[in-house]
Amino acid sequence: MFASCASVGALVRLCALALLLTLGLGSELRVRVRLSDGLVTEEVLEADSERDSISLEFKQGDGTLITFMADFKQEVKIFRALILGELERGQNQYQALCFISRLNRNEIIPSESMARLRQKNPHVIRLAEERKGLEQLTMSASVNLSRALQLSSHIHNMCSEAHEAIYTRETDVKYWSEKGVDGSIFEVLPQTTETPSFQACHSTKDLWQPCLCTYSLRLEWYPCMLKYCRSRDGTGKGSSYKCGIRSCSKGYHFTYYVPQKQLCLWDEEMIN
Ligand SMILES: *[C@@H]1O[C@H](CO)[C@@H](O)[C@H](O)[C@H]1NC(C)=O
Repeated sequence: MFASCASVGALVRLCALALLLTLGLGSELRVRVRLSDGLVTEEVLEADSERDSISLEFKQGDGTLITFMADFKQEVKIFRALILGELERGQNQYQALCFISRLNRNEIIPSESMARLRQKNPHVIRLAEERKGLEQLTMSASVNLSRALQLSSHIHNMCSEAHEAIYTRETDVKYWSEKGVDGSIFEVLPQTTETPSFQACHSTKDLWQPCLCTYSLRLEWYPCMLKYCRSRDGTGKGSSYKCGIRSCSKGYHFTYYVPQKQLCLWDEEMIN
């Protein structure tokens, strides 16, 4: 379905030309995907090979806008959820959450490969070839927005509306600190796992009590791996070349501390 390069003769030359034209430029891909609730949404994937980053964005059925950013230079990935508030309950128009974690190798294809992806049938509703499970992330530290520039230049753009709600994991803090990132941009939050001194928000009655909030999201379709094909020349020798991508779907379940249950009202709705 997706091919970054075609395999035969003339097409290869055509393809090489197309690759040249797009080299070094950003590019956008729009993909129709079906969400877990059955709704079809349009996902926008953008690659910036100069900044070595990929972003992915889509709207959920409940109106929440999910944005994912992979910053390969800094080995940082950022998830942002813009959740529509319930105005009748005195909430803001929307609430922004930002979750930052370490980007591992081979989680997603390189930005320059992403920048070359074209799709043949833009109207097809895509289903990921591999459906990965739900990764549990305990976000027990917060990130100071005004100092976050040295961690990733994308944080300021993406997370400025999240104010204090920018979270990360202690293991990631440790990793980045060892790489030379200043530890003062992080702040460890009240304990979340080992000695759970706070209740889950969904079992907390008082709206002003601190509690442990959870938030889940799923990236329904993203290019997680390059596919290689083999070609044979006249002498029968084989060589391999990139001939497409493998698509994945992956869920993320974040647990983090909130100073007031008020900031975590979706947790309540899930058990109703
Ligand atoms: C974040 O950093 C700024 C600038 O260094 C500082 O003024 C501010 O107090 C910090 N915020 C928190 C919540 O620690």
